[in-house]
Amino acid sequence: MYLLSFFYYLLYYLTLQLDLWKPLYLEDITSNSIVLVRIPFTALQSVKEELVHCSLSFDVLLDNITHVMGSAEKGRLRRKRSITDYDYTKYHSMEDIYNWINLMSEKHSDLLTQHYLGATYESRPMHYLKISQPSSNPKKIIWMDCGIHAREWIAPAFCQWFVKEIVQNHQKDARIKKILKNLDLYVLPVLNIDGYIYSWTTDRLWRKSRSSHQNGTCFGVDLNRNFNIKWCNLGSSKNCSDNSYCGMSPVSEPETKAVVDLVEKIKSDMICYLTIHSYSQYILTAYGYSRELPKSYNETIKVAQMAASELKKKHGTAYKVGSFANLLYEASGTSQDWVHDLGIDFSYTIELRDNGTYKFILPEDQIQPTCEETMAAVLTIIEYVNDKYFPNRAPTNAPMLYPAVLLLSTVVKLLV
Ligand code: ARG
Ligand code: ZN
Repeated sequence: MYLLSFFYYLLYYLTLQLDLWKPLYLEDITSNSIVLVRIPFTALQSVKEELVHCSLSFDVLLDNITHVMGSAEKGRLRRKRSITDYDYTKYHSMEDIYNWINLMSEKHSDLLTQHYLGATYESRPMHYLKISQPSSNPKKIIWMDCGIHAREWIAPAFCQWFVKEIVQNHQKDARIKKILKNLDLYVLPVLNIDGYIYSWTTDRLWRKSRSSHQNGTCFGVDLNRNFNIKWCNLGSSKNCSDNSYCGMSPVSEPETKAVVDLVEKIKSDMICYLTIHSYSQYILTAYGYSRELPKSYNETIKVAQMAASELKKKHGTAYKVGSFANLLYEASGTSQDWVHDLGIDFSYTIELRDNGTYKFILPEDQIQPTCEETMAAVLTIIEYVNDKYFPNRAPTNAPMLYPAVLLLSTVVKLLV
């Protein structure tokens, strides 16, 4: 019993990295049977700890198996094991992204930690990365998710690029340094994992999740219509075969629920929410559920304009800014609106390239320029909210300080 639950634990939570040699199938493991399993180096420590924890005895048969393997297998492992040659200018399968999350959080454990968020409809683990520098000051939180819609592959590519840039530049880039003093960045690289995998294996243009409805006659919910804000009111459908199907009820989907549960926990510290989509080249603010504009609009749109103008400086790409409903279409139940109406004004949907030529099938040679310009936009937004919430921790400038010092020394003199 212990043995079985142990293996289920490993398979689900270590993201299917284990290679079962004997027996061939998980179901064939019984109590008192001998199990042979190859454990990748990255998982070794946690597997050993778990074995000890479950009081299961084990022997190491072959240590560092790369010595006895053929070169093809070695190559495969090397690719999986090395993060330095991860190609950020290609789209990656979910298997690659799971590995990337593991390797990044191992290699940069001082700055980056991996956290379990929940499980998808098809029982896959959802992990987010937390970028956080140790500090005794209370910090605020920025949230960014990518890939709520399966076919928008450029979005997860950007989340990965973003994490890479922060990790690579956090010591040399003054702006990133400043931001990390005050802010923790939470990044969910792929929100709709089941749908993303389905778009790789079966239907490149799949949009929704993969939950089953009406006795398996139709599949998937538009997760960006499933949040509890004017649920299924405008621009969404109650018919499960539609692409904008809003689900059985608000937050009916495990993926939505996982995000909602965490956001509910951290909302008092969250000051900015970013959700990354494609395509259209828009920076969108609340609301999607109505053409009316929220009180926050004047300021949030000003920040979006600043971001779009910084974005354009990189490669000349033109973005429009406006409210979701006025620029894209009316849609209720979006994550952006739900978060906005929790009280987090700076809640944006960013629709990346392009504006209609390739639509969701953005060629790989556009990944790098798209990510570079989006980085400029996202950092502009994050820096703005940082400076707004931490005005006293912004770098002090000498002319302001000077009279204060003079005044202080005068007082001291008088006292003496
Ligand atoms: N990411 C968008 C969505 O959530 C699609 C944008 C492209 N579609 C369009 N009609 N311009 O639906
Ligand atoms: Zn989308």
